[in-house]
Amino acid sequence: MGKFAERMVETAGRKKSRIILALDLPPSTPNLLGEGLNLLSRVSRSLCAVKFNRHLLLPLGLMEGVRRLVDHAHSLGLPAIMDCKLNDIGSTNLAMAEWFFKAGFDALTVSPYVGWKGGLEPVFHLAKKLGRGLLVLAYMSHEGARQTFGKPLLSGGRLKPAYQVFASWASRWGADGVIVGATRPAKIAEVKRILKGRVAIYSPGVGFQGGSVEEAVRKGADYLIVGRSILQAEDPLEAAESLRVRAWRVKPHLTAG
Ligand code: XMP
Repeated sequence: MGKFAERMVETAGRKKSRIILALDLPPSTPNLLGEGLNLLSRVSRSLCAVKFNRHLLLPLGLMEGVRRLVDHAHSLGLPAIMDCKLNDIGSTNLAMAEWFFKAGFDALTVSPYVGWKGGLEPVFHLAKKLGRGLLVLAYMSHEGARQTFGKPLLSGGRLKPAYQVFASWASRWGADGVIVGATRPAKIAEVKRILKGRVAIYSPGVGFQGGSVEEAVRKGADYLIVGRSILQAEDPLEAAESLRVRAWRVKPHLTAG
């Protein structure tokens, strides 16, 4: 298990929470940075990590606003994940990863479509050297993902669905996690079998996108990534706490590193 994966198991176990907040505040929010800091303080006790996306990165900038939010997450005991889905040639991926790690991120998301050699290899080497984590997409949560993640790829002389191939690669590459949408619980179960409990499953798509908390965890999701169901709730803390309790009740332990 990598250092990031160990830290996630430790934080989630201590807080009895599988919930990762996707801090996707609308970029037009007045006092965006202040709102982000405030929201994190309010809901942190129900979370095991925070995930960032372009919603805050573009308006606030990496080394100014976002870095302050990452520092704040750390001060609350929460690891910070950048959902950048690295998807370019190796040298460009490396430049992005270096900056995200410099800003304090503990883990990044990567797309397996760019492959290993000259694609993700340098990023895996960097993450390993720094003790940071990488999470590999296997099957995205939105409907159109079927057009690519669900299509066959040639692997070892046989055609297999892309998400199965990606799960095997993630395991072989030493990834800290694999991402499978909660909108596809049957695929979570399939990926779980491929990973043999050695790599954790991160699952976005509960609530707003239609995925069920209970079904995703029952099928093998270790962590649930949740944005709008918390952010747009009348009481975000109550929403986060209710999700924490529901997800933990299904399986009150973590089954994967
Ligand atoms: P909501 O508001 O739908 O936010 O709870 C979900 C968050 O997760 C991101 N997302 C994904 N990220 N693979 C990913 O790596 C996925 O399949 C996926 N689906 C959603 C989304 O951008 C938002 O930040």
